Amino acid sequence: MNTKRWIIGTGMSLVAVAFLSACGSSSSKTTRTSDNNTSETAESGTSEGKSSNIPYLKQNHANYSEHGSTQTPAPVKDANTKTINWTISASTEEDAIKLQEHLKFMEDRLLNDQNPRAWDKLFLMEAYMKYNKYYTTSVERSGTNVVVGKNATTACAYEVISAHSDAVQGDFFARGDIMVDYSLKAETILASSACNDVRTSLENYITSRQKRRGH
Ligand code: HEM
Repeated sequence: MNTKRWIIGTGMSLVAVAFLSACGSSSSKTTRTSDNNTSETAESGTSEGKSSNIPYLKQNHANYSEHGSTQTPAPVKDANTKTINWTISASTEEDAIKLQEHLKFMEDRLLNDQNPRAWDKLFLMEAYMKYNKYYTTSVERSGTNVVVGKNATTACAYEVISAHSDAVQGDFFARGDIMVDYSLKAETILASSACNDVRTSLENYITSRQKRRGH
């Protein structure tokens, strides 16, 4: 073998791997080892010095409550205006910052056409809706309070973000359980008349993006 060519080739491969890792590309995820893996890399790694904070949120899920109450945070939904609003109180400023970072990180991933949790059709549908601008997200933090607003432009997108907020409230915040698969719920939404206009496009998107669980 030509030694000089081998050294140049190997060097270029290493540079490419380093670049892909830094970008957090979903296709470069190599460290996920099982469904129970909640490490940063399992759902996305880091970007711009921020991270998904999923292990932290899972572990500290009970540190978040509905503003002015001790209850689990609850989304305020309005199907008429297709909006969902949360006012979440965290136990500490650190908890609030971790949640804020999570939201920024996840929104950036969706806007960059990436797919966190690509085995779950509900998360795939949400990624499609965000990337195609069928809804927007706003996040503001003031001390220990985090205010989240989601605003959909179509009934189908509203159903998707509504189902996602149910998952966040009922499983993520209430029990720190991130293992539930919401694909059946997603299929029901997909089959509903609200999604007539985008069904074919969404089905194609899901087929091309869905990964097997654990991969
Ligand atoms: C399986 C792990 C998780 C993934 C893949 C994930 C992903 C996401 C994504 C994609 C969004 C939507 C961002 C947007 O629409 O702009 C989101 C929002 C959110 N996540 Fe997570 N998340 C996970 C776990 C958690 C946990 C454990 C918590 C809290 C205990 C949490 C709290 C939230 C909140 C409060 C929102 C905003 C409300 C909403 O979108 O309805 N997440 N997450």
